[in-house]
Amino acid sequence: MSEELIPVLSRAEIEQKVKRLAEHICKDYDKEELVVLGILKGSFIFLADLVRKLTIPVQIDFIRLASYGSETSSSGQVQITKGLELDIGDRHVLVAEDIVDSGLTIAYLLDYLKQFHPKSIKVCTFIDKTGRREVQIPVDYAVHVIESGFLVGYGLDFDEKYRTLPAIYHLKK
Ligand code: IMP
Ligand code: MG
Repeated sequence: MSEELIPVLSRAEIEQKVKRLAEHICKDYDKEELVVLGILKGSFIFLADLVRKLTIPVQIDFIRLASYGSETSSSGQVQITKGLELDIGDRHVLVAEDIVDSGLTIAYLLDYLKQFHPKSIKVCTFIDKTGRREVQIPVDYAVHVIESGFLVGYGLDFDEKYRTLPAIYHLKK
């Protein structure tokens, strides 16, 4: 099966948009300390760029969620395969995700995190894909919003392929 990559966001556009997002986040948190919680694996490249542009004090943790489904959509049945390491109790937490699609993964995570009693939880995603949302979840920050389509690059993969591409592409099959 042939796969075609159609450019969506260039490296330069990503850099500019992530910088703008970082400024927005710094303004909102107003010098308060933040725990940026990356969801593995997809968010690691976005998170690495974002945190280096934040000028407020930041701590970083990762959680790994496995969700079962087809290659291109999640089922909402989520399992935590690597848990938190930092104590997020009474801390401001910013969840960093590569892409929000159905919203089921984030809905599960937000519910899970409540038991640790963070001071606040917000969601930041590189791509907000709005057309297939199944649960209402708060997307507090999004770098880029699309309605539909399957995107790869900048951390986003298709079956572990294309994750390391420095720009974002629409994968056409
Ligand atoms: P959700 O639970 O449907 O919101 O699933 C979100 C997860 O599905 C993301 O973290 C990705 O791992 C994967 N996903 C959804 N859409 C895409 C896409 O367009 N490209 C790559 N991965 C995607
Ligand atoms: Mg993901």
